[in-house]
This record gives sequence, structure tokens and C-alpha cells, in this order.
Amino acid sequence: MLQVPLIVLDFGSQYTQLIARKLRESGVYCEILPYNEKIEDIKARNPKGIILSGGPASVYAKDAYHPESEIYELNIPILGICYGMQLICQHFGGVVVAADHHEYGKAELEFLDELECELFDDTPSGQIVWMSHGDRVDMLPDGFERVARSENSPYAAIANVDKKIFAFQFHPEVYHSQHGTKLLENFAKNICFIKASWNMGSFAKEQIAKIKQRVGDKKVLCGVSGGVDSSVVATLLHEAIGKQLIPVFVDNGLLRANEREQVEVMFGRLEINLITVDASLEFLENLKGVSDPEKKRKIIGETFIKVFDREAKKHEGIEFLAQGTLYTDVIESVSVKGPSKTIKSHHNVGGLPDWMSFELIEPLREIFKDEVRKLGLEVGLPKDMIGRHPFPGPGLAIRVMGEVTANELRLLRESDTIMQDELKASGLYDKVWQAFTVVLNVKSVGVMGDNRTYDNTVCVRMVESVDGMTATFAHIPHDLLERMSSRIINEVDGINRVVYDITSKPPGTIEWE
Ligand code: XMP
Repeated sequence: MLQVPLIVLDFGSQYTQLIARKLRESGVYCEILPYNEKIEDIKARNPKGIILSGGPASVYAKDAYHPESEIYELNIPILGICYGMQLICQHFGGVVVAADHHEYGKAELEFLDELECELFDDTPSGQIVWMSHGDRVDMLPDGFERVARSENSPYAAIANVDKKIFAFQFHPEVYHSQHGTKLLENFAKNICFIKASWNMGSFAKEQIAKIKQRVGDKKVLCGVSGGVDSSVVATLLHEAIGKQLIPVFVDNGLLRANEREQVEVMFGRLEINLITVDASLEFLENLKGVSDPEKKRKIIGETFIKVFDREAKKHEGIEFLAQGTLYTDVIESVSVKGPSKTIKSHHNVGGLPDWMSFELIEPLREIFKDEVRKLGLEVGLPKDMIGRHPFPGPGLAIRVMGEVTANELRLLRESDTIMQDELKASGLYDKVWQAFTVVLNVKSVGVMGDNRTYDNTVCVRMVESVDGMTATFAHIPHDLLERMSSRIINEVDGINRVVYDITSKPPGTIEWE
């Protein structure tokens, strides 16, 4: 019998996935379903508890999202968060009003002693929580009691212990809620009596089983770049469907020094039969004479699709395309399964043209980068590959300013190799999010020996970031920068100047194009 211990109904909050992530950290498995999931489908999962997420709407709006009302009669614990709390109050006859002023940011939670509530076990009164709401509860429904208040929210946490219904006005799932993970864990373990048995190993098993069932006897094309995400996806697929996986690595001529060999060796060790397609001439030919960054990106994207399509036609029975899309790629585009507001679209999302009628397999779509790294270790990827910095799909083309030529690619590869060597030797490689060089196509005058030089400039770019969405330039010791600069100028023929990029994101982006 199917058993999903905890269900999160998604009312469109940007934070819904964080609820799932925090529960996973506590070893509790949950599934996120759309807010209006049919009651039969919820019952079929035999949940031991339900969480109602936050959401951007007001419960009184004409088109407000409501769950099926039978969820309140399942006789299992319910936890409402923000909008979820307002839904509960509205359903049981309380009063929700627009707050005098919206409350965004930190608030101090004060417990009220009247109620012994296992929800707050092992967390202190006076803990800091994160509020983000416009509406608030003004009168509690019958049977509910106040558990905690904050300065601006008289009902910051409420409970109906008999019915096992609880609600928070604040967001326990966000980083700034000091004991938020513990509160969610308490709900799962103390109130729903869920055993913490989930881990990355069980996630891997589950994904493998899902892929097996979905793919049947068909084949799956998987683009492999050598990066962590696509390597983890390929490994999961290989476990699930063996030879029905068609893993394709395109050498687009825009890879770093020795990258193709490194990727081939790694997949060889994993006993996955990688198909390397050497399309480097085709890519470089298509990029000839093009210097506009957006045109370069577009040409590279279109050439990838052509190469992929040609490769796919060589194999019969391919019905699926696997991608390493992560939750952070999707978070600002659309809510995973629910109704969040679209903020912006992102690089890897929705990249296929309509005429390529593959179904997508995206096993990492609901997890975060650090979780993918843990998953990678679980499925047997080597440690050094798990820690590799991200590398963009368009490769070195967006690190050569203007037209991509063979000479500029050489300058880039040689300078990048030296920079990476020095960074690794200093022990700082794992401390920065990304480090690379950029060929600027700016010539300047120098003097080497007794001779005047007039050569190209390389920029060293190193950033610290958590998710790539924002970043600060890395504060690198000057003696390390000095070693990089001196070696690049001495060892790379055609470079006589090295500069360091001190721009953060925003206002800059991480890549130069
Ligand atoms: P930006 O330059 O937008 O980069 O600040 C943020 C992160 O995304 C990577 N990046 C890409 N990754 N395809 C990718 O797979 C792309 O087209 C692409 N453009 C940028 C970039 O390296 C950084 O980690």
C-alpha cells in the first residue's frame, strides 16, 4: 500500500520547497501536491499529516485557492503556515482581516504558558521567526487556543489540540526562523508520529524505481556535460535502465583544457558507455564572425539541438530526454506543482523546441544543489567531481569577449589551467563558488625583458555565492593573485596583463556575457 507520511499542499508560496527540504533534513519524507489535489488522491497516499503552505493571495480574494474541504475530516494532524493558517481559521469560523501594516521580516515569538504543546518541544520562548504576511487572524474559531504571539501578530501560533490542528503565522521553513527546522520536525515526529527513516539513499532508490516504471522498455537520451547535475542524472538512469540509456556528451570545442578526456575517463570508471560526439568544428564554424553575446548564446543553443537531434535519430525507441534541472533553476520560473507567481525564466528551463517531442525526465527538479552533491556521493560519483565548480552550457564562448577564435580559446584554456592549479594548491578551491578567466580582447603595452609588448589582457573572476543568484567577488589573498598573474604572463604566449574583477552580482553577472 502506498504510504506518503506527510503531504504538503502548495498554495503558491516561494518557500513551499523549503518546507520539504527542511523535513528531508530531519529524515522525514513528504510529497508536495497542488492545493486542490482531489481528496481520493490524498487518501490513496495514506498520509499521517498534512501541511498547508503559505501563498501570495488573500483568503478573501474572489479567486482565492482553497483545498478540498474534506481534508479537515480525515482525522489526521494538520499544520497551516501563514496563508495555510488563515485558511484554517476561515474554515472553522474565525475572522481573518487585512493587517494595518504588512509584516515582513524578523519577529520575536513569545510563548503563552497555558498550553503544553509538543510542537514547541526543545525550542525556547523568545525565538526569532520570519514573518511575511498582509492578512492576519483577528478572532480565533471555537476550539482553538493561542500558543504564541509576537509584537504585531497576536496569534502568531495557534492550536486545536483535540483536533490536532496547528498553525503558524510565521514561516518556520525559511533560514531566518531560528528553530524552524525543529518546529517542523516536532510536527512530523511528535504530532504525526512519523519515523525519521528518509535519507539520500532512499531518495536514490525511489527515483530509480520511478524512472524504471515510467520508461518501461523505451530509451532515454541524456545530455551529459561532465558537471555534477547531469552526471548524477546519468548515473541514476544507468542504475534504473542500463543500456536503454543513451548518454551523449557533445564536444562543442568550447570545453576547458583536457575536459573531454576527464569526462570520458570518469564515465568509463562508472562503466557507463558514453557516446562522445565531436561537433567542435560545427560549433566554431557557426560562431565565426559573431561577436554579439546573445547571438553567440542563441547559435550555441541551436547547434546543440541540431547535434542532439541527429544523434537521437541514430537510435530507435527514444521517447524521453533526461535533464539535470534543479529546484533553483525552476524556483523563479514557476512553482514546482502549484500556483506561484512567475518572477523570471532561467537558463535550463524549457529549452526544447516543440518539434522535438520527447517527454522530459528531471529527477533533480525538486532538490537543491547541496542535496544533489550528497546524492552524487550516494550513487558512487567520485568526490573530486562532486565538488567541481559550475560551468555554463555555452562554455568558453561566453568567456571570450567578442568573436570566438582558435587563438582566444587557447589563451583562455592556458590561463584557466594555471589559475585553477594555483587555486587548488592554495586550498581555496572549495571555498569559492566559481573561478575562471576571461579573455578581454583589450590590448595594452607592456615590457618584458628589454622588449616592448603589445598583447591581450586576461581577467581573473572569482566569486562566492550560495546559489548563483547573487554573488560577491571573492576576497582572495594578494599573494595568490600575484602568483596567478605572474605565471599567466610568463607562461601564456600572447598575454601581458592580468586584472581581477571586483564586481558583485548584482549589479554584475557572474559570467561576462
Ligand atoms: P550569471 O552569469 O547569470 O550566472 O550570473 C549564474 C550562474 O549560471 C551559470 N550560467 C549558465 N549555466 N547555462 C548554464 O547551464 C547558461 O547559459 C549559463 N549562463 C550562466 C554561471 O556560470 C553561474 O554559475
